[in-house]
Parts: sequence; C-alpha cells; structure tokens
Amino acid sequence: MEPKAKIFKALNEADGIISGETICAELGISRVSVWKHIKAMVESGISIAASPKGYELVADPDSLVPWYFGERQERIHYFQEIPSTMDKAIALARQGCPAHTVVVALRQTHGRGRMKRTWLSADGGLYFTIVVRPTLPVMLASLVNLAAAIDMADLLKSAYSVDAVLKWPNDILTNQHKLCGILSQMEIEGGQVAYISIGIGLNVNNAPQNKETTATSLKALLNRPLPRREILVEFLNRFEKRMAHFDADAVVAQWKANNATIGRPVRIETFDNTHSGTAVDIDSYGGLILRRADGTLQTITHGDCFYQ
Ligand code: BTN
Repeated sequence: MEPKAKIFKALNEADGIISGETICAELGISRVSVWKHIKAMVESGISIAASPKGYELVADPDSLVPWYFGERQERIHYFQEIPSTMDKAIALARQGCPAHTVVVALRQTHGRGRMKRTWLSADGGLYFTIVVRPTLPVMLASLVNLAAAIDMADLLKSAYSVDAVLKWPNDILTNQHKLCGILSQMEIEGGQVAYISIGIGLNVNNAPQNKETTATSLKALLNRPLPRREILVEFLNRFEKRMAHFDADAVVAQWKANNATIGRPVRIETFDNTHSGTAVDIDSYGGLILRRADGTLQTITHGDCFYQ
C-alpha cells in the first residue's frame, strides 16, 4: 500500500482526530512527509481538517476518490477531468483489466452519448463506465445493458423514492424527463464477449443544459444535493451481485415490469433508418417488438426511441 493510502486508512479508522506523531509512527515516515502527503490528498479532493491536535477526515459521502471505496479501491480509476470515461475504460479493458473495473470522473470534456451525440458532463453529475466480462452468448449481451438500467432505476426508486421508469433500450426517465443515459460498447473475441463497457451518465447535482430541455436531475427533483459515492456504491453492490448470477429471463421480466415504452406509439431511429409503430413487447434478447401500421410485427435490435 502506498503512503497516501496508508494515511487515508489511518484517518478513516481513527475515531476523530489522529495526531501527526501517531501517523508518523504507524507509517515510519517523518512529520514533514506526512504533511506533504496530506497536502496532496487535500488537493486531490479529500476533505481533511488540520488542527494543532492533528488531522481528521471530514465525512464526505459525495467524494469519488478511490480510497473511500474500501475493498473496491483497486478497481476504481478516478479522474477530476477526462475527455470520456468510455475511452479510458475501453483502453483498460483492452489491456486486460479485471471485470468490474470502474472509470469515474467529476467532469468530462468530450462525454459521449448514443448515436454519436455529445453528453454534456458538467460538475455535479455522476459519470462512470464499468467494464464487465460476462460469459454469455453474444446475442444476450444487450440484456446486460438493460440490467444496468434496471438496477440504477431500482436504486433510485428504493433509496430516494424517485418515480424512475425505463425507456427502451436503457434510458431512465421520471415524469418524461431524462435522468440517466447509458451507452455501451462491446468487443467480441473468437465468438465470445471479450468485454462490455457500460457508460452511465446520471444527472445528480448538475443542472442539465438548455440543449437537453427534457432532462432533469435528482437535485431538481428532491430539492437537495445527493451524495454521488453513495449512489455509485449502491449501484455497484446491485450490479456486481446480478452479474455474478446473470439471469436473462429475470432481466426481461424486470425490464417489462418497470418500463414506460410498451404500449406507446414510437419512432425508432438508427443511423440509416427510421421505424414507426406501437411498441408491444421486448423479445428474449432485449429487442423491441413493434406493431406496424399494416399490422405486421417487426423487432428492432438497436436505435434511439422517440415517443410519438
Ligand atoms: C445517452 O445518449 O443517453 C447515453 C449517455 C451516456 C453518458 C455516459 S457518461 C459516462 C460515460 N462516458 C461517456 O462519454 N458517456 C457515458
């Protein structure tokens, strides 16, 4: 463990203030180097109060600094600013990072949305990409994205009483306003899923910009700022558990039980096509089944969905 991680552990385990001498003795380093490490930690976003008696970790459930993630910390790659957590996660996945590696950033300068759109990523939002390596047939891979949306919506409902519903394929809306978007990219090797990178943008304490007039945030809904680490940890708890025993039928059933797309007239846009009809169901791979104006059924596997 590197010195800063050891100092963080000592501060975290202390019941209140811990003296500089105690930290020096525990780590076997000088007071000056303890002070230098603490200064750097404060600059990187850790709240530490210093007084003549010593140092104290200030409770900060919003901080996304890896040391706060306990046993998960080795798998958390944290950035104050990054072009896109997707690109970093994909690079890590290609280098062989373990499953459930997470790239998280306070802001993104080139956040990516679906269909090559920009995802505005100002301070206050929760922007992360998680890498998973499911041993699933490729045709079931889309269900992993639906599962991420189900788990996030479920946590927003149960922890914060938000009326979160799913819009095909994996948007989360409340009162028709977008709260969360999910973008995923997958690589296949030898007919198997090598990895799926699932990028999640959740409007937490940010004010979604004019360009996204149909968007809202948790802060706007609940009239208070919410702690992003608490949300991320709770999501990871749910999603890691789900991925350990992935049940495709359960995903389809849970998605159907929590969606607001089935039953609606919709328009689905892909890069080169537009499909219209009434959404009547999803199939066992997560594809949306439309009843077209002529009464025939059509299954759409990807695209952007607009309610008509
Ligand atoms: C959408 O268009 O609805 C999907 C938006 C996905 C945004 C997230 S934010 C974290 C991750 N990094 C990105 O660049 N995009 C995804």
